[in-house]
Order: sequence, then C-alpha cells, then structure tokens
Amino acid sequence: MDKLLVGGGRSLQGEISISGAKNATLPILAGVLLASESVTLSNVPHLKDVTTTIALLQSMGVQVTVDDKLNISVDGSEITDRRAPYDLVKTMRASILVLGPLVARYGEADVSLPGGCAIGSRPVNLHVQGLQAMGADVVIENGYIKARAKRLHGAHIVFDTVTVTGTENLLMAATLAAGETILENAAREPEIIDLAEFLISMGAKITGHGSSMIRIQGVKRLGGTEYAVMPDRIETGTYLVAAAITRGNIRLKRTSADYLEAVIIKLQEAGAKIHHGEGWIELDMKGRRPRAVDVRTLPYPAFPTDMQAQFCAMNAMSEGVGTVTETIFENRFQHVLELQRMGADIRLEGNMAISKGVKRLTSAPVMATDLRASAGLILAGLAAEGETLVDRIYHVDRGYERIEEKLQQLGASIRRVMN
Ligand code: EPU
Repeated sequence: MDKLLVGGGRSLQGEISISGAKNATLPILAGVLLASESVTLSNVPHLKDVTTTIALLQSMGVQVTVDDKLNISVDGSEITDRRAPYDLVKTMRASILVLGPLVARYGEADVSLPGGCAIGSRPVNLHVQGLQAMGADVVIENGYIKARAKRLHGAHIVFDTVTVTGTENLLMAATLAAGETILENAAREPEIIDLAEFLISMGAKITGHGSSMIRIQGVKRLGGTEYAVMPDRIETGTYLVAAAITRGNIRLKRTSADYLEAVIIKLQEAGAKIHHGEGWIELDMKGRRPRAVDVRTLPYPAFPTDMQAQFCAMNAMSEGVGTVTETIFENRFQHVLELQRMGADIRLEGNMAISKGVKRLTSAPVMATDLRASAGLILAGLAAEGETLVDRIYHVDRGYERIEEKLQQLGASIRRVMN
C-alpha cells in the first residue's frame, strides 16, 4: 500500500495551478446520463473518484473517450444497464448520484445502498423520499434501492436537512420530470451552481440555484453540451492552509476566491495576508507562526466541513487556543487522534476539538482515515520536525490531483513510498 513520506520544516513558496472540482465533476458525470447526445467535459481532475465514476458509467454501457488534452467525451444516450453495483458504491458513496438521472431518464434504477462510512452515518433517506414525492416506486431489497417510475412528475420538496448530493440528485431528476419541481431548504454549495449551469447548457430549465429555493421546469429531452468544470475550492483552501502552517508565501492559479470567503476570513484571523484577483489567490504568512482560530462547520456559505481537518492541523501548532466544532458529520475527528500522536495538545469534547497550540509537532507514523483527514495529516507533517509517514493515502488520491507533485513544486519535501 502506498504511503507518503513528508519532511517537515520547509516554508512553502511558489506557484501552482488548482484542478477542477471533484465534488462538481462527480454529479456532472452522473448528469451525463440525462443527455440524449454526447457531452464533452474539460477541466476534469484526474482522481480516483473520477475514475470510479467513469468505470460505473462504462459498466452501464456509456461510451467514454479521453482526448490528448484530457477532455472527456461521454455518450450516455443509450445505456444497457441501470444498476450501480455494491462493489463500486461501497468504494465511493457519490455513486448514489446516478439514482436520480437513471429514474428520470430510463424509469428504473437499482443502486446499492452505500452502507457505513468513516466520517458519519450518512443516510440517503432524503434522496429516496424526494424521488417518491416525484412519483417513483421505491423499495429497498437485497441491499439495493430499487426505484421505478413511468415518468416522474414535479413536486414541492422541503428538505429536512441541507444535503448536497440529495439536492443534486433531485435537481437532476426534476429536469426530465413532467411539470414544475420546487426544492426548498436546498443546499447552496457552489458545486450545485456548477451542476445546474451544466444542466442548463444541455437545455434544462432551472432558476434559483445557489439559493435555498431551486425551481425546475421539467423538459422532455436534454441535448449534448461542452462544459468546463469549476476549480476545486477545497483543494484551493487546503493549499492555502499548507502555506499558512509552514509560514510560507504562495500563489494559486486557475482558481477563485469567490467561494472561499469563510475560509479566507479564518486564515486572515490566523494572521495570513491574502490577495486575490481574476483567477488567482496569494497567501503570505511573512514567516510568522499562525494564531489559533475558532471555526464551526455548517452548510455553505459557512465554513466547510471539508476544510475542518486542515484547520485542526493548523490550530495544533498555532499560538493560543482554538476550537473546531463539527456540526455536519458525527464522526469526523479521527485525524485528531493521529495529530495527538504528533504531539498536538487537542481535547475532544463532543463535537468540538479544543486545541492548545504547541510550539513543535514531531513526526510519527500516522494513519489516514478519510480524504480530508489525510490532507490534515499531510499538512501537519509539513510543519512537524522530522519525517512523517502517512499511511493509507489511497484516501488522498480520491480527491487531490498529484498532491505530492504540487507540494514539491512549492518546495516541500514529500515523496510516495511503496511497500
Ligand atoms: N443527510 C441525511 N439524509 C440524507 C442525506 C444527508 O440525514 O438523505 C445528512 C448527513 O448525514 C449529514 C448531512 O445531512 O449529516 C449533510 O450531508 P450531505 O448529504 O450534504 O453530504 P453528501 O452530499 O453525502 C457532500 C460532499 C462531501 C461533503 C458534504 C458536506 C460530494 C460528492 N460529497 O456529501 O464531500 O463533506 O457534502 O459538505 O459532494 C469530501 O469531498 O471529502 C466529502 C466528504
């Protein structure tokens, strides 16, 4: 299993480009199932989760071609199988995103229930209830969600909880339903805006995306399109914290500060100087140790849960006491136990990690438990004394494109070791 060996103590300096957003690419690839013609996507990141989604689409008979510029053409106009099998879904929960498109376009879907997850229970009841409200017959049988419908109809759906993929699933389903669907208490994440714009470019009629009320007028058919995926705001935020934690000075290109307000404010509180313009962001710590900050995760536009582990790492070696409160997932603090092994003084109280910053973290072999936890541990390794060996980094390959190359480009000592 691959591991990353991270050498600490170097201040990150320089410039890198940010990749396309994983959490926009996954729903967009699922949305291809709605199209009656071929779709070409650019700025698709090369990630394990993207490869898994492509494998899932191919298993359904979708034709996928990749050109020399890594643009992906996908033709889901005729599929042979309407099933997302357990073997794929258990490795990637986002496979649930094919549920809505399959029922809406083909009237049937058998999608494995994802089962347990390292960061929380993560049920998909709201995806299922929404489809039922749109007229689908749904049974759970042999571990599968089996949904059937002649043609879905519009519905007025009020989500009990803000759910990102739940909103995306029902948004996609509603594009081909008969009549109007209203999604209230919808997620407002930027990736939902990107998905909606992609669907609109195929002929969908959607308004209100980016707000908590989305209206969709169903159409009979969606055509093909060419679409460029938005930059990854979480990858952007992760590199900003990497620079802050190492007291560095970096410039990130092909990205935007637009969707990162909550993260940028916290980094400024930590003492970072941040400048941004069209397509770039710079962070300068001016060689200073960060100050610990208080963050609380909530749905967008508040502070993202996907940046929480990185801030736990930063607080661990900052000046003062900081808290990280996790309100979205009930078990997303496994990285804290690993950070403690590196000398962090962090106390867990319920859903809050209270951290008294230490002057030095020391290297230790640590275990990544999920994607963002791995990012947090790598960042801690960059700031620690000695060489930190991060195990189970297949998690990081799910969501960060060429992370060790990009960090090396910024002057970090990091390499992949195999055994
Ligand atoms: N929830 C329910 N019922 C549902 C759906 C969700 O109770 O039917 C609850 C969840 O248990 C959770 C809360 O609602 O407590 C929010 O979960 P959400 O559904 O929004 O999460 P998700 O859609 O499964 C996406 C991202 C995650 C990110 C969360 C929160 C994708 C593919 N995944 O997950 O990304 O953490 O939204 O922002 O978009 C990651 O990239 O590392 C990652 C985990």
